[in-house]
Amino acid sequence: MNPLAKRYLLAPGPTPVPPEALLAMAQPIIHHRSPQFKPILAKVEEDLKYVFQTKNDVLILASTGTGGMEGAVTNTLSPGDKAIVVRGGKFGERWAEICGAYGVESINIDIEWGRCVKPEQIAKTLEEHPEAKAVFIQAHETSTGVKFPLKEIGEIVKDKENTILVVDAISALGAMEIKTDEWHLDVVVAGSQKALMLPPGLAFVSLSEKAWRFVEKSSLPKYYFNFTKERKALAKNQTAFTAAVSLIIGLRETLKRIKEIGLENIIAYHQRLSKAVKTAIKAMGLRVFTKENPSEILTAVEAPEGIDAQEITKIMREEYGITIAGGQAQLKGKIFRISHMGYVDEHEMIMVIAALERTLIKLGYKLTPGVGVKAAQEVLLS
Ligand SMILES: Cc1ncc(COP(=O)(O)O)c(C=O)c1O
Repeated sequence: MNPLAKRYLLAPGPTPVPPEALLAMAQPIIHHRSPQFKPILAKVEEDLKYVFQTKNDVLILASTGTGGMEGAVTNTLSPGDKAIVVRGGKFGERWAEICGAYGVESINIDIEWGRCVKPEQIAKTLEEHPEAKAVFIQAHETSTGVKFPLKEIGEIVKDKENTILVVDAISALGAMEIKTDEWHLDVVVAGSQKALMLPPGLAFVSLSEKAWRFVEKSSLPKYYFNFTKERKALAKNQTAFTAAVSLIIGLRETLKRIKEIGLENIIAYHQRLSKAVKTAIKAMGLRVFTKENPSEILTAVEAPEGIDAQEITKIMREEYGITIAGGQAQLKGKIFRISHMGYVDEHEMIMVIAALERTLIKLGYKLTPGVGVKAAQEVLLS
């Protein structure tokens, strides 16, 4: 690779961080219990509520997203409880693994990777298992690029006094429509390194009043991820343990950007980038892997016959300086994923398609240079 070439991050997390957040995080550290820090936390909390579309508290944890997922399980359930888990990819499997680790029996709804769960499947499973205390699902399954119908599922779960809906929105919140309160999403988990445009290291969790009633009764073991303690601390503009001060100071900047642009505009922008990339992929004779409900967060692409997707991501990274993601678990070598999430722009989409054209031609795929770029340009010009 040319040593002067720039590097680009177009993987579905971590994502690029805007300069104002990088600069803010480079400031000298302040104490997390100081009077300087409290108003920062208060502002971040206010803006998180806007992004979550909730009136409820949003807990701020120093961990990656999985810590928020684990906390969501250990703070709402008790040993021997049963829970319904939608397993449509690697992160759905993670819900079931966390449940298993804590002795919660998961009733799995297995969905073919790349396809979407139907709300009726949730309704039917709930009818068969009225004792299930929770339904665990993703907003967007990052391993397959499918978004799940949360609004419809929220309608099904909302009247079940005995069951909460727990959503992993780690790769969705801040880029996709998620109306936490309006859609009756009882627990929503997010992470810093995706559409919130920060480095990894923060998890966020909102809980509805119904979910807090589950927290009161929950008896699974917990220590660090103790939502009751975090909520008490938050009431004093504090976190229970040492706050990830620099990340939270960076978050103040990225949330400010999101608020200024407006969530609706940000979502529309992601949809526009997604359409450009997906149209280009099809124009290049490639297949989008996601069969149902493709998200605006990323485009998952099947590697052409005879080409290993890992070769594609390697050439993209090593020769053109562009990091995209490969497939995970059973999709390793079969697909690659181009992210259009967070701090990325239209010209980066043209660039990634141009580099992909060159990569594929190098690997022997028959393609007229420029067909993908032209298709993407046409979408962006429309
Ligand atoms: C949907 C989803 N859930 C969970 C995770 C795990 O988050 P983390 O790696 O921050 O623990 C990810 C990360 O890629 C994700 O995309």
